[in-house]
Amino acid sequence: MTMNAEKLVAAAVAAAKNAYAPYSNFHVGAALLLDNGDVVTGANFENASYGMTLCAETVAIAKANSDGQMRRIVAIAVAGGPKADDGGTTLGAEAITPCGRCRQVIKEVADEVAIDLPVYCAKQGGHDTHLLSELLPYGFGPASLK
Ligand code: THU
Repeated sequence: MTMNAEKLVAAAVAAAKNAYAPYSNFHVGAALLLDNGDVVTGANFENASYGMTLCAETVAIAKANSDGQMRRIVAIAVAGGPKADDGGTTLGAEAITPCGRCRQVIKEVADEVAIDLPVYCAKQGGHDTHLLSELLPYGFGPASLK
């Protein structure tokens, strides 16, 4: 792996600048590390029909998939908080973690690549590391359909 967790977290923080979040003013960025060192980013994309909002993590994963890169994902970083004056995000003392729907989306990737994916969750001055299996224990996934 050519990139460490801190750099991936920094990419997620940078991606939060591209959030389209005029309703919540909560800017979230996500960054996916691929097995070749490439990084795919995403940002939350809100909608006037609020429930249609797409989260940063899901956007990034769908983006990687659309480019034929989903099976290369080896780690995920997420960074979010209130919109900052520079258009980015304001990290809290406590990290945000992926919402329930995003955990389910991440599980699809984790099961497909057969890696208990690490999820780096940014906070002021650092990040917390969680495994997908901690975030979504006893999850429903591809194997459940067999
Ligand atoms: N959001 C994400 O992008 N990812 C998450 O895991 C949690 C929530 C977004 C959705 C919405 O645009 C804003 O944060 C406030 O909920």
